[in-house]
Amino acid sequence: MTDQAPYTDTSGIAKPQQVTTSIRRERRRVRQLRRVGREHMTSWGLGALADDVELLISEMATNAVVHGKARSVGFFLSYAQGEVRIEVDDGTPGSWPQLIDQDTGRESGRGVFILDSLARSWGTSADGRRTWCTLSVHSAVP
Ligand SMILES: Nc1ncnc2c1ncn2[C@@H]1O[C@H](COP(=O)(O)OP(=O)(O)OP(=O)(O)O)[C@@H](O)[C@H]1O
Ligand SMILES: [Mg+2]
Repeated sequence: MTDQAPYTDTSGIAKPQQVTTSIRRERRRVRQLRRVGREHMTSWGLGALADDVELLISEMATNAVVHGKARSVGFFLSYAQGEVRIEVDDGTPGSWPQLIDQDTGRESGRGVFILDSLARSWGTSADGRRTWCTLSVHSAVP
């Protein structure tokens, strides 16, 4: 179930455009979040960022599915003040994403590297449940 706050500003003051939803913790559900991300980026006039947002959602949500232990994975996407923010809640406190050294020849450990390379900033909540990242809109939209 997707709960979307419509953009109904009439005052000239920018209000956040945001969407909150969740999926069951199953790999095949991740594509739902990718689709939510792409659709919202397009409807917010941010199609130029849709590929990056889709990739980030894919890596963050897959990590929540693979490394989390809860029944569901929470998702939040917003656009406000020139910034897109993605947040994924794996519902599992006490473990955190780790940036893996890419020189070790490992086949895994790409997700957080992509996050670190693509996002303007990223981090985790103190309890380890939520991973968030931001993208700057100014670089993609004239
Ligand atoms: N949501 C998360 N909760 C707990 N630990 C996580 C989470 N996301 C990532 N991690 C930890 O960080 C490590 C690096 O994540 P990363 O996505 O880079 O690699 P990976 O998931 O192991 O492999 P892949 O290349 O397929 O993404 C993981 O192996 C895991 O130990
Ligand atoms: Mg991963």
